[in-house]
This record gives sequence, C-alpha cells and structure tokens, in this order.
Amino acid sequence: MNASPLHGRVAVVTGGGSGIGLAIASSLARRGVRCALLGRRAEAVESAAGSLVTPGLGIPTDVTDTTRVDDALRRVHGHLGPVDIVVHAAGVFHKAPVGELTATHWQEVLAVNLTAPVFLTQALWPDLVAQSGQILFVGSIAADRAFPANSAYAASKGGLASFARVVAEEGRDHGVRVITLQPGQTDTPIWGDTAPRPVRRAMMRAEGVGALAADLLATDRSVDFEPVTVVPPTDPWEAT
Ligand SMILES: NC(=O)c1ccc[n+]([C@@H]2O[C@H](COP(=O)([O-])OP(=O)(O)OC[C@H]3O[C@@H](n4cnc5c(N)ncnc54)[C@H](OP(=O)(O)O)[C@@H]3O)[C@@H](O)[C@H]2O)c1
Repeated sequence: MNASPLHGRVAVVTGGGSGIGLAIASSLARRGVRCALLGRRAEAVESAAGSLVTPGLGIPTDVTDTTRVDDALRRVHGHLGPVDIVVHAAGVFHKAPVGELTATHWQEVLAVNLTAPVFLTQALWPDLVAQSGQILFVGSIAADRAFPANSAYAASKGGLASFARVVAEEGRDHGVRVITLQPGQTDTPIWGDTAPRPVRRAMMRAEGVGALAADLLATDRSVDFEPVTVVPPTDPWEAT
C-alpha cells in the first residue's frame, strides 16, 4: 500500500529551480509525485529535477511567454501524462518606493507574479478538471500587510489572492481544490543582498514551508482551506 494519497500524481511546479518552489517539489517527490519544474535558468531546473527522489523533469521556461509555456506543457504531457497538481511558485521581488516605480518594474512584477499564474491555470484547467486536481498558489503575507517600497509586489500578490478565491469557487463545482499559501519572510535567493545575514538566519527555512505545502496538498479532500498564512516566530528584521 502506498503511504501517500499523492503517490503517482503529476505536478507542474513553476519556480521549481530554487527556494520555495524547489522545496515544495522535493517534499512532493518524497510522497511519490512526479514533478515538472519550470524556470528560466536551464541549469537550475535541470539540476533541481535531478535532485528529486522521484524522477522528475526540468523544463527551461519563462512563464510569461505563453508559447514557451505551451511547449513545456506538451513535454509534460508526453513524458509524465496529465497534470494533477499545479504549484505556482515562480515570482520576482523588486523593491521601489512608489515615486520611483517604473513601468518596466511594475509590468515585470505583475507579469510573473499574477498574469503568468492566471494563464497557466487556464492552460491546465482541462487536466485539472479531468483529474479532480489541485492548484497551489504561493502568495505572500504582502497581500494583506503593507511593507514600504513594496507596492508592485503587494498588488501582484493581492491580485493573486483575489484570483485564487474566484478559481476556488469555480473549481469546487469541478472537484478542483485551490490552496493559497501566504508565507512571510523565508530564507531564499529572492532576497539577494537586500537582507543581512542575521535577518536571513531568522527567516523561515524554505524546507519547512515546502513540507507544509505538501502536507496541505495531501490533506483529505473533504477539507478545504482559507488562505494559509505562515510566518517566522519573531520578526526577522529585529534580529539585526
Ligand atoms: N522568500 C520569501 O520571503 C517569500 C515570502 C512570501 C512569498 N514568496 C514567494 O515565494 C515564491 C518563490 O520565491 P522564493 O522565495 O523561493 O525565491 P526564489 O528562490 O528566487 O524563487 C523564485 C523562482 O521564480 C523563478 N522565476 C522568476 N521569474 C520567472 C519567469 N519569468 N519564468 C519562470 N520562472 C521564473 C526563478 O527561476 P529563474 O530565475 O530561473 O527563472 C526562481 O526559481 C515567489 O512567488 C515569492 O513571491 C517568497
């Protein structure tokens, strides 16, 4: 008997080459899920896929390019079959006070964090309905909390939370479950050099967030979730 209800399922994980996306894929693979990891850097997604305990696939893809996404999904279907789970973890985070916000900045953040999950969800909808599948949106506490110089990111994650709420309602009639996970500060490459080492050490570990995400996806289907917010025990910025 297989221990996990997810065993043998197929997942597409965007942003699967690093950080929270990779941590979610690793936890899913430990439950026997076959994961296709999408991200722009070929080396990152391919080496990440090679590290999974259940063999997966790394597919270099810019999620904002619908032609490349369609190509990627054809590869997923050819190699792994229909998709049961999509994890939207690709994201970018650039800080700028509103007075310095450029159109390029705004458009990139909205394109990756909001528009790409919308159209990937749409592209996978027939699979998700046919498989009674699941969608996991990696949102952010920034959807609900104001951090200075964060307006574009907050708008993208707020928009994602609203989109997810509606898709959850539509999905319910088709047996599709939608989960929105809203992490607080997590120690991943997204921070670049914007957070000093003691602050990074006080953040959540991506592995912890990834394990929780896999637990949520494995939870009995009679259980539905409001957006799940997780935060470090103390404010990491007080660790300086
Ligand atoms: N770390 C935190 O404190 C925190 C808190 C709340 C929410 N989150 C969210 O968690 C998610 C994962 O971020 P992370 O913290 O794990 O940082 P990360 O390691 O930088 O992961 C972001 C991933 O997104 C991918 N990505 C970015 N633009 C892409 C594009 N156009 N097409 C395809 N992939 C793209 C990156 O890969 P490539 O560069 O190879 O494309 C990277 O693997 C994001 O949605 C982020 O907003 C993070």
